[in-house]
Amino acid sequence: MSLIAAQPASPAPSVFLAPSILAPVELHPPFLTGRLVRLRAPEPADDTLNELFNDHGVRSGLGMPFPQPTESFHAWVESARKNPEHINLIIERLEQRGAIGMCDLMKIEAPTRTAELGIWVARPWWRAGYGTDAVRTLSRFGFDHVNLHRITLYVNADNVQAIRAYEKVGFKDEGRLREAAFVHGGRVDQLVMGLLPDDLTSERGEG
Ligand SMILES: CC(C)(COP(=O)(O)OP(=O)(O)OC[C@H]1O[C@@H](n2cnc3c(N)ncnc32)[C@H](O)[C@@H]1OP(=O)(O)O)[C@@H](O)C(=O)NCCC(=O)NCCS
Repeated sequence: MSLIAAQPASPAPSVFLAPSILAPVELHPPFLTGRLVRLRAPEPADDTLNELFNDHGVRSGLGMPFPQPTESFHAWVESARKNPEHINLIIERLEQRGAIGMCDLMKIEAPTRTAELGIWVARPWWRAGYGTDAVRTLSRFGFDHVNLHRITLYVNADNVQAIRAYEKVGFKDEGRLREAAFVHGGRVDQLVMGLLPDDLTSERGEG
């Protein structure tokens, strides 16, 4: 049963409609849909994603060198669910159901209208455009529905795949934290990247 009352096709001509002082409220569908992926809320069955997360290439990009048990994966999802400053979503391909990764808006701050973005895609689905589309879809959601004005992320300077995906979405390189990360036994710089609403590229506009 729909909880949304049906709207008349057009207002009765005799009714004066004052301009609304509120922005139109859009319905929040169960999925955020991009060009290639859909983002949805995590479900208990998604705990199986932990096996794909325990890939050295995935974890090192996220600065998590140690394998994590399924219980920790579950705890991450649960803590996000209870935290209004954290939105944690599963990435699925439009062409086939099934979780292929996760993305997050974290540290959502109302006064500054800022948040931090995180993402990972499981290795079998790398380099097919899913990461870029998930970052773009999540960023658009952040601007249009969470009222964000800025999204920040931190990425290791040697993570060319991630940097390329972020640049395609419109993220700008805003600075370098020298030797801030420790990857594969060596010190690596970290880039700070930021996205404002006007930076966000469309699918067709990506460079
Ligand atoms: C970062 C990540 C989400 C990207 O996802 P993805 O689905 O592979 O990304 P996309 O396919 O949308 O885009 C990757 C881009 O990098 C490019 N790329 C890949 N390897 C590259 C390399 N060695 N040199 C240059 N560009 C490279 C791809 O060609 C593609 O660009 P293109 O579409 O212009 O050809 C994924 O690699 C991942 O989960 N990595 C591990 C976790 C991680 O590092 N997360 C980010 C932490 S900040």
